[in-house]
Amino acid sequence: MQNAISGFSKLSKTQKIDWLLETYFNNDESSRKLVTQYFNSDEKLQKLHDEFIENTITNFYLPLGVAPNFLINETLYTIPMAIEESSVVAAASKAAKYWLERGGFKAEVISMVKIGQVHFTYAGKKEDLLNFFTTVKSQLISDASPITKNMERRGGGILDIELRDKTEELDHYYQLHATFETLDAMGANFINSCLEQFAETLKLEAEKSLEGQLDIIMSILSNYVPDCLVRAEVRCKIEDLKDKDIPNPGAFAEKFKQAVSIAEVEPHRAVTHNKGIMNGIDAVVLATGNDFRAVEAGVHAYASKDGKYTSLTHCSIDNGEFCFWLEIPLALGTVGGLTSLHPLVKFALQMLGKPSAKDLMKIVAVAGLAQNFAALKSLTTTGIQQGHMKMHLMNILNQFEATESEKTQLVEHFKINTVTHSAVVEAISKMRK
Ligand code: HMG
Repeated sequence: MQNAISGFSKLSKTQKIDWLLETYFNNDESSRKLVTQYFNSDEKLQKLHDEFIENTITNFYLPLGVAPNFLINETLYTIPMAIEESSVVAAASKAAKYWLERGGFKAEVISMVKIGQVHFTYAGKKEDLLNFFTTVKSQLISDASPITKNMERRGGGILDIELRDKTEELDHYYQLHATFETLDAMGANFINSCLEQFAETLKLEAEKSLEGQLDIIMSILSNYVPDCLVRAEVRCKIEDLKDKDIPNPGAFAEKFKQAVSIAEVEPHRAVTHNKGIMNGIDAVVLATGNDFRAVEAGVHAYASKDGKYTSLTHCSIDNGEFCFWLEIPLALGTVGGLTSLHPLVKFALQMLGKPSAKDLMKIVAVAGLAQNFAALKSLTTTGIQQGHMKMHLMNILNQFEATESEKTQLVEHFKINTVTHSAVVEAISKMRK
C-alpha cells in the first residue's frame, strides 16, 4: 500500500520528519523549518515534551490565558485557561468581574466516588455465581492490597464491589461493578490496576470452584462518574443584576431563565448551550493537566442521564431572587499524571494555590458556569456576534498579515464600527489602496 511504513516507531525524530517530508511534502525544506521552529531550545524541556506521547515530531502550541477576579467560596482565584477560541477567556473574565460585585460563586463537592468494572461472561447457573461471588468478594479485595495499601494509608481505596447481572441486556453478560475513593488522584491507573487484579482472582477462583465457563472480557474504569459530582451557583436579588448591559434587570432575569428553559427542553439548543459550558471547563481541565476527553464523555453522558439530552445548567427566580447553577460529574486529579511533569501545569496549579482534587472540581465547575452566564448574557441582550467578533478581530487581521500600524488603526476603527469578516476585509483593502 502506498505510504505504508513498517518500523516507523523505531525511527529517530529526525528520521520521522524526513519520512514525512519525502512522503507528503516533496522534500520541501520550508516544511522542515515550520516543524522544527516549534522545538524548544532547552533540549531537556523538549525531550520531556517528546516523551509525553509517541511518534512526537514537534510541539503544537495552544495559548494559555488567565481569567482573574473569580471569587469562589470567599477565596479569590485567577483561573488558567488553555484554549484556542477567541472571546472565551474574555467572557470568563467578564462574568467573574460581574459576580465579584454580587457575592461571587458558591461551589460544593457533593460526592467523590469513582467507578471501574470487570466485564465477563458466565454461562452457568446464576445462583452458583451469586454464591461464588459472596465467598470470593473478600479475597478480591485482599488480593489487591499490595496495590491499595498506599491509597488506604492516605484515606482512600476500594469502597465496594458488586456483582451485576446484565444478562437481560446481553446473553451471559455479568460485571463486577467496583467503586473507589482516589482522593487527589484522578485514579485511572490505580483503578485499572485494581480491576486487573480482581479479574485475575476471579478467573483463578472460578476455575477451582465454579462449574461452567467464566470468561473475562475486559477490565477498565468508567469515565461516567455520576457520583463524583460538583455543584456551582450564583445568586442575587433581581434588582442587583443591573449593570451597563442590563438596564432592566427584571426583564433580563426572565429572558435569561427562558433561555435556560429552552436548553432544558430542546436537545439541539442544549448541545450548543453545553458546548459553551465546556469552553470554560475544557480550558481549565487542559491547563491543569487533566484528561478533557474523559471529562467531556462523562459530562455529556450525565446530560442525557434521564433519557433525553438536556442543559447542564438551571435557573430559578424565587421571591425576587435570581439563582443560576450547574451540576456536573468531574473526575480530576491534582497529583499524578501530567500534574507533576508539565512545567506549565505546575505553574497553573501553583497559581490556583495547589488545590486538592475537590477544590479543583469546584474551580472547574465555576469556570463552566461563568462561561455559560457570559454567553447567555450576550445571547439574550446584544447577540453573540458583537463581543465574539470584537475578540476575533485580531485573528482576521493576522489572517491578512496586517502590520502593527494597520492593526492599531483598524482596532481604533472597529471600536465604533461592527466587526464582521467582510467589514474587516473591506477596511483593510481600503487602507492598502
Ligand atoms: P465587553 O462588554 O465588550 O467588554 O464584552 P469590556 O471591554 O466592557 O470589558 C469588560 C470586561 O470583560 C473586562 O474587564 C474583562 O474582564 C473582560 P477589565 O479587564 O477591563 O476590568 N474583557 C476582556 N478580558 C480579556 N481580554 C479582553 C477583554 N475584553 C473584555 N480583550 C465580551 C466583551 C467578549 C467579554 C462579551 O461580549 C462576552 O462575554 N461575550 C460572550 C462571548 C462568548 O461566550 N464566547 C464564547 C465563544 S462563542 C461559543 O462558542 C459559545 C456559544 O455558542 C454558547 C451558547 O450558544 O450558549 C455562544
